[in-house]
Amino acid sequence: MLNQELIQKEFGYIGDHVYLNNSLVGMPPERVKQACRRFMDDYVATFNDSIKSDLLAKRERAKAAIAKMIHARPEDIIFEKNVTESLSTFAMGYSELQPGTNAVIVDSDFPNTIYPWINARHQRGFDLRVYRTCRGQIITRELLSLVDENTRVLAISMVQSGWGYLADLKALGQFCRERKIAFVVDGFQGLGRLSVDVEECAIDYMPCGGFKALMGTWGAAFIYCRPEIIGRINPPTAGYQSAKSHTLAPGVTTEFDEIDFKDDVRRLEAGSQCTYAIESMGLGVELLLELGVREVEAHVLALDRYLRSRLQELPLDVVTPEDPAALSGLIAILFPAEWTRRAGKILSERKIHVTLREGYIRLTIALFNTQRDMDAFYAAMRELCRANAEN
Ligand SMILES: Cc1ncc(COP(=O)(O)O)c(C=O)c1O
Repeated sequence: MLNQELIQKEFGYIGDHVYLNNSLVGMPPERVKQACRRFMDDYVATFNDSIKSDLLAKRERAKAAIAKMIHARPEDIIFEKNVTESLSTFAMGYSELQPGTNAVIVDSDFPNTIYPWINARHQRGFDLRVYRTCRGQIITRELLSLVDENTRVLAISMVQSGWGYLADLKALGQFCRERKIAFVVDGFQGLGRLSVDVEECAIDYMPCGGFKALMGTWGAAFIYCRPEIIGRINPPTAGYQSAKSHTLAPGVTTEFDEIDFKDDVRRLEAGSQCTYAIESMGLGVELLLELGVREVEAHVLALDRYLRSRLQELPLDVVTPEDPAALSGLIAILFPAEWTRRAGKILSERKIHVTLREGYIRLTIALFNTQRDMDAFYAAMRELCRANAEN
């Protein structure tokens, strides 16, 4: 049972809304709202001295929380702006990807998880092998049948953002590690709801943005990078932050042949960053740790199973994994496209927030959701089915 008093304190402002659109954007807790307000107040009040003095401490604090969440070391974590750039860094920089080699990706992944590979393929000349899914379902054995002796990377989302399938990370990771294939996992739709141990899952590189289940805001993502593979990534960007040394005025740069990149993962981190977004993500993760990562996962999955069992009685196409271990707290529902307008009306009258597209609803359960939220969504779907049956 999650600490309801703490959840009420942090999310009481949600009130009588039923917020289930957590796969689009998560809702931040009070501590994050306050930190964002404080950021700008301090910025102007101290003529930005507060940013300079706090920057490192806030980054280190966020790294420590994130590392704990995924069972990594803080020194193997860096920050980026978003998942797209984080994946592009790997796709453009991974030196093992040469002409004649290939990377395996998945067709139902979010475009930002796919496009960095298409772009890098064009620029670097390696091949792409695409796993074609049926309704986003990842069948491990079928996915792995695409791997051959030239495969250097397997890149996949932890949870399919449109369909909700949780990949079998342990099986995939182990397979890749045995064959020296880099295992790249986009954690954005899984972390914050589900637990991951990067060691146990043999993950080599995992980016995750801050503005969904990590409860931060736009502008920051983190990257976990296994130290053993850092030497195989040529930094596609460079700035003083990624170098061991630099010269500022009144000195001038005197070395123009080489950049002396840092030895660890910080060699991939160039340019200024969005401090308040990093801080927000770290504070969101701290809340998650306070509530318990495993406890949050159990809560989310219990509500997922509960809602699915209720929805079974309605004439809706609820996308359901064959393997119950692939549930993730993200539920996709398909229905006739002509119901969409009515669905929007019923949901907004009941203050229920989901992702609604033509003939498609996606809802994602967060740590603050309750059984009452599930019942409210079920009642809305029942009304939708009834109204359409009567017409
Ligand atoms: C799995 C996944 N990866 C990435 C993104 C977005 O990437 P970015 O942080 O680059 O906007 C999303 C959705 O917003 C997503 O669902």
